[in-house]
Amino acid sequence: MKLDGKVAVVTGAARGIGAGIARCMAENGARVAILDLDGDEAQKTAESLGVEALGFAADVAEEAEAKDAMDRVAAAFGGIDILVNNAGGGRDMGNAPASEGVGGLTGIEGHTQDRWDEQLQTNLRTTWAATKAAVPHLRARGGGSIVNIASIAGLMPSTTITAYSAAKAGVISFTRSTAAEYAPHDIRANAICPGFLWTRAWQGLASGMKMRVPKYSDMEPRDIFLQVVENGVPLKREQIPEDIGHLAAFLCSDLAHNITGQAISVDGGITLR
Ligand SMILES: NC(=O)c1ccc[n+]([C@@H]2O[C@H](COP(=O)([O-])OP(=O)(O)OC[C@H]3O[C@@H](n4cnc5c(N)ncnc54)[C@H](O)[C@@H]3O)[C@@H](O)[C@H]2O)c1
Repeated sequence: MKLDGKVAVVTGAARGIGAGIARCMAENGARVAILDLDGDEAQKTAESLGVEALGFAADVAEEAEAKDAMDRVAAAFGGIDILVNNAGGGRDMGNAPASEGVGGLTGIEGHTQDRWDEQLQTNLRTTWAATKAAVPHLRARGGGSIVNIASIAGLMPSTTITAYSAAKAGVISFTRSTAAEYAPHDIRANAICPGFLWTRAWQGLASGMKMRVPKYSDMEPRDIFLQVVENGVPLKREQIPEDIGHLAAFLCSDLAHNITGQAISVDGGITLR
């Protein structure tokens, strides 16, 4: 058990990648708190972990809400040792207006100011607000570990998901700043850049591609996703939430005590191309 006795907060963990991270934290002995916009699902996921766990609604893009949530977790568990900033994604891209192009994605001229702000808020402000709220608790424990879920989109240029890419590049930069600022407190910060995972986010994207791209119109969204994997992933397989969770658990353990400020891709080699 790499995380025995630790308390881990995972944001956006009601489902998808965050739920996989929460399962890996629990498997390694941590007590887990799940914060998500969807409080009912957060609670259900927490109850399924088989360890002492808590799940409740919180919008971690809002500074005051993030602070209240971290204070509540610390009061319930006696402190916080680990923060995983996983909340992110964005409005269901499958439901975006056709004017926004393939899969609801837009490029520089296609973004409205509202869409730009929404992406930065969901993917970058969340990371800052939750970190600001959690750090006093990590410091009170004499150290801790933060993992930020960025994306391969933060490492590569994009001609469509411009705001998302910029936000995720911002998460990588923010990770390095966090690592530098809090190293004197023995708080480490690292980023993980996932590749292609079949979560609600990709389900929405593939539904949008089916509607808008003629060659995909006869295919099921899942098959569209698998074709993207076949064409874009050198290892020819999709990534799964536990792939991200195992690395997050390792980075938060004492085995990683000298690793900080890094961004590590879990992408089957996508970024080799
Ligand atoms: N799925 C992929 O292929 C992929 C690839 C790279 C990076 N990512 C990143 O991984 C993370 C998880 O994505 P996912 O695919 O599991 O998506 P998902 O939509 O399945 O889950 C995201 C969760 O975050 C929650 N959330 C969103 N904004 C929030 C907020 N302000 N406060 C609290 N909770 C909030 C949602 O309610 C949802 O439960 C995101 O940061 C995403 O950008 C995903």
